[in-house]
Amino acid sequence: MAARAQIGVTGLAVMGRNLARNFARHGYTVAVHNRSYAKTASLVADHGDEGDFVASESMADFVASIERPRKVVIMVKAGAATDAVIAELVPLLETGDIIIDAGNAHFPDTRRREAELKEHGLHFVGTGVSGGEEGALNGPSIMPGGAPESYVTLGPILEDISAKVDGVPCCTYVGPDGAGHFVKMVHNGIEYADMQLIAEAYDLLKQGLGATAAEIGEIFAEWNTGDLESFLIEITADVLAHVDAETGSAFVDVVLDRAEQKGTGRWTVQNGLDLGVPITGIAEATFARALSGSVPQRQAAVGVLPAHTETWSVADRDAFVEDVRLALYASKVVAYSQGFDQIAAASEEFGWDIDRGAMARIWRGGCIIRARFLNRITEAYERDAQLPLLLSDEYFTGAVGNGVPAWRRIVAAAALHGVPTPAFASSLAYYDGVRAERLPANLIQAQRDFFGAHTYHRVDKAGVFHTEWTGDRTETAEGDA
Ligand code: 6PG
Repeated sequence: MAARAQIGVTGLAVMGRNLARNFARHGYTVAVHNRSYAKTASLVADHGDEGDFVASESMADFVASIERPRKVVIMVKAGAATDAVIAELVPLLETGDIIIDAGNAHFPDTRRREAELKEHGLHFVGTGVSGGEEGALNGPSIMPGGAPESYVTLGPILEDISAKVDGVPCCTYVGPDGAGHFVKMVHNGIEYADMQLIAEAYDLLKQGLGATAAEIGEIFAEWNTGDLESFLIEITADVLAHVDAETGSAFVDVVLDRAEQKGTGRWTVQNGLDLGVPITGIAEATFARALSGSVPQRQAAVGVLPAHTETWSVADRDAFVEDVRLALYASKVVAYSQGFDQIAAASEEFGWDIDRGAMARIWRGGCIIRARFLNRITEAYERDAQLPLLLSDEYFTGAVGNGVPAWRRIVAAAALHGVPTPAFASSLAYYDGVRAERLPANLIQAQRDFFGAHTYHRVDKAGVFHTEWTGDRTETAEGDA
């Protein structure tokens, strides 16, 4: 078989199929392969007119149909399936060829695979791809990792098929080995936080105003014309306006209130714990999904746990809606600020040298969290690439600061009226925590020293100290005889 394809895609479920079509629509000759040939055949039959596809039944023919250095995109289920496809590919590839894993792989797996394939002289590029089926076809946000030299030939192709904002591709080299999949993981964590915050805003509007889904949908549509403009706010307005054909009720009112997850949010939280980065917004969002699915616990609690709340009737509707909007914006900035801290910490830990401003730039289009305010984040990192806290950038101190009174009113009202707002409340607590001159961690250190001789530092002099709590309570400095 003549090697004439510029790129290959194996794994033609909907994401792989759409990526292959996207490459073809951009003028690339695309080799296509799937474990069962039927999917390959149907891709060519249904979309063959969109570009130049080279279909192969066997993996060997597929590999042989791609020009060197080969670029092979694998789009299969994360985990064992990915390892199986890699094992099949390796003996067929040659030095300098590139395997691109475009699935939602866990970044430690990507690090392992990259190291293993390097031994074979192969490049392994773990690549985040966001935007769902639609994005894969019409322009996703793409987050490639791996060795920088692989980006030289691969990058231009990926940039070509990515979403564009103001003519700028939503794709850039992220960093070595697992950096691309790491950034995609944090993107998903932020996605969870964003979705939970929107859900809490919806609940507040529903319970505070007694508004219908359609009315709340109109509020979200209005919000989408301002600072909150984003894909998730836009689809929320759409979803809330939708009517269930069978019952004639608002669609959201017939959907069971149990949120599921495939696991990327859980990975983000686990990594936040590993790195010691307080990603409280993402964690609360992930646990809120877990709570919604805690069926026996909820059944044991509903109608049993006393609420001690009063009926809620909001006096000034417009003022309340504006308060919720401001609280949502502020909480959202906290979630992003925390996510960017996590990226910085991992970049340091793994030596990735990730440019956070560039990450905000490639999230402006194509991906699920695409939003107008990502421009503000890029600008903040342009002002200071080493910014220690996104919230402390001059734009955000103003934009969030102005909303603080509203944020406090909303969190207080939610607590008084028994509306669960874990992400709003924990984001405000983080805000107050990070800006506190003095936290009660002094007491925790004293307790740790009391029961475990874990030592403490003093505010008035350098050194490490311990008090003899069970004895005469004298203080010793570490190093004292
Ligand atoms: C994307 C999405 C995509 C998907 C996730 C989240 O960026 O295109 O994040 O990766 O929707 O799998 O799904 P869960 O909510 O099921 O974890």
